[in-house]
Amino acid sequence: MNIKDVIRSYRVVPVVVFNSIDEVRPKLQAMLGGGLPIAEITYRTACAGEAIRIAVSEFKDLYVGAGTVINAEQAEQAVGYGAKFIVSPGFSTAVAAVCRAAGVPYLGGCATPTEIMTAIDSGCDVIKFFPATVYGGLPAMKALAAAFPQITFLPTGGISDKNLAEYLAWDKIFAVGGSWMMKGTPEEIKTKCAQALAIAKSVK
Ligand code: 3PG
Repeated sequence: MNIKDVIRSYRVVPVVVFNSIDEVRPKLQAMLGGGLPIAEITYRTACAGEAIRIAVSEFKDLYVGAGTVINAEQAEQAVGYGAKFIVSPGFSTAVAAVCRAAGVPYLGGCATPTEIMTAIDSGCDVIKFFPATVYGGLPAMKALAAAFPQITFLPTGGISDKNLAEYLAWDKIFAVGGSWMMKGTPEEIKTKCAQALAIAKSVK
């Protein structure tokens, strides 16, 4: 199965911020324990690259991607370490070019028609919609989808177990991303990942 099919089958993408390398193994183990084998490790902290390298080399059952990738250098590093997908808060044609050359899906952030047109021009058919709740949530995505029927959405930002089902119920949702299930102790992470997965499975 290719990575897009994997993400589409789980429909939930955990967004992970590692503040130190010590957190990497316990959090990833907890997530896998909860049944969710996808991690978007974000370049919001200095240890992101090393965290991606460890995740890819030590967690063979995990589908590792890189998030908050804001330039070509980060994209190249993440792909070099084996990241299977790249996510950005906005849309970067430079990052898109790195991903295209590497054959790795790029889920770039778009909140306007112009940005979506740029994404389509770059060969993308899934866009991240961020920050989803601030930019109008489902009604905004539905209005955009009327003009861009070829696009599916990865909304993130402000989504939690409270509104996950509502987002997943719309058929243009590729998957939902968020950090809510990756916060707390390993035991809490395991429970929240399992809950997110159960919600996703209950909405078909
Ligand atoms: C992201 O990078 O996708 C978002 O920060 C996730 O948003 P959340 O923290 O509100 O879930």
